[in-house]
Amino acid sequence: MRIHVEGAEDQTLVAKFLEADQGHLFDDWEDLDSTGRRKLLDDLSRIDLGFLQQLVSDHLTSDPESLPVATPSPPPMIPLGDPGREEAKSLGLEALSRGEVGVMLLAGGVGTRLGHAGPKGSYPLLPLTQMTLFQFFAESLLRRQKEVGTAIPWWIMTSPSNHEETVQYFRDHQFHGLNSSDVIILPQEELPVIDPRRGKILRKGPGRVLFSPDGHGGAIRLMQRHADLFRQRGIRHVYTHQVDNPLAPIGDPELVGLHRIHGSQFSSKAVAKTDPDEKVGVFCQTGEHLRIIEYSELGDEERNRRDDDGKLSFRAGNVAMHVIDLDFVLGDEAGNTPALPMPFHMAKKSVKHWIDHEWSESETPNSVRFETFIFDVLPLSDQAIVVEASRDLEFAPVKNRDGNDSPETSRHALQMLWGDWLESAGYPLERNADGSPSRTLEISPRIAVDKDQFIAVFDSLEIPDEGPILIQ
Ligand code: UD1
Repeated sequence: MRIHVEGAEDQTLVAKFLEADQGHLFDDWEDLDSTGRRKLLDDLSRIDLGFLQQLVSDHLTSDPESLPVATPSPPPMIPLGDPGREEAKSLGLEALSRGEVGVMLLAGGVGTRLGHAGPKGSYPLLPLTQMTLFQFFAESLLRRQKEVGTAIPWWIMTSPSNHEETVQYFRDHQFHGLNSSDVIILPQEELPVIDPRRGKILRKGPGRVLFSPDGHGGAIRLMQRHADLFRQRGIRHVYTHQVDNPLAPIGDPELVGLHRIHGSQFSSKAVAKTDPDEKVGVFCQTGEHLRIIEYSELGDEERNRRDDDGKLSFRAGNVAMHVIDLDFVLGDEAGNTPALPMPFHMAKKSVKHWIDHEWSESETPNSVRFETFIFDVLPLSDQAIVVEASRDLEFAPVKNRDGNDSPETSRHALQMLWGDWLESAGYPLERNADGSPSRTLEISPRIAVDKDQFIAVFDSLEIPDEGPILIQ
């Protein structure tokens, strides 16, 4: 195949892909206009081909995930009701008020399961105002900033496919009241999607490479790439949360406090898993170290094993809220950045793609994406803790269009939570037979992010006698 390009750099680029047996990428070259050709060359120039070839040969010829690891055992966990947790919260609030805590939202995923057009954070979740997930987080952060009297920077990790839309969203909504300089939106990186049978790079259309975000492990690389942004602000700990969980207690003072008390480098919240098939990763101890084994990678025996009291042995379910020490990720101020190597996991998915001048679709997985996970740095830490969280208070993810972990189940959890706040504040709330409040409720996080805050302001609120209760 001969592809004619002008500049020496482009010639080298084309030669590299032809030599690597990826010549199919140029199948549509003759049909592309000059803009289309430029786009293809730009796509190709973003690919580190040597690295990708290594990845493909390591994973598609032998599967590293099936290599034996030390037998996992259930991890120690700081339980709910531990007497030290109140004091930890005060310590955490102090760290927040000294401006030592930053927040990072992982929002680089493609969110295909929800089927929402646009970044997942722009999904209108709340029942009365249709407040989006992004607004819910922004208002929670505003409330936390008010509580501690300090600005808390919010890094939002996007990916190239939703970055522009996310930036535009925040501009259009005036950053939902946050100071725009405190909202730092940065894209993670992407990798090409691969045909697992032939190791070929897939295309999303004529002359266009199909890329996919390289997993939320990209957050670690992002922190390292932008180390100055974190250092300049005097940040010591980064609280990370996922775009799908509105109940994540932003900046979680309690977790920050426990993290400091235990001299931890990586601290996480976990909820008790009761259904062995619930799709959450679980914390495990292997040898000296804690790690998370993803739900898709936990063996049947471990998944179903129970303690004498009938509880699942591996029940510490990952709710994806972590506090990570910045020194652990960035190393010392002299610039000796630690390597923190993270293994790549393979996600096999079925995808519509362009091949041999036509579209190809398949019911069964026909593509492989390579991803690193943020929690894979956990076993590299010298000190780590897992802290039990209440599912009702902190975990109501929106993942699927319907069924489990859907907008409906998440809204239901919010109704139950707000119903409890109102009743605890002394309001006589009527409930349906299933226990849910009989009136639709919505409480803006600007008013309160937890029950104590709500009770403290309750007397100043006006609650209508009938109809939905909107408190904002
Ligand atoms: C995730 C966790 C699982 C945990 C569950 C809790 C992983 C691999 N697994 O599962 O252990 O129990 O949440 O809800 O994370 N994201 C990026 N960049 C990417 C890919 C994802 O920022 O390249 C973000 C997404 O936007 C989302 C989050 O990471 O906020 C989780 O991604 P998702 O793939 O939905 O994870 P789950 O399979 O739900």
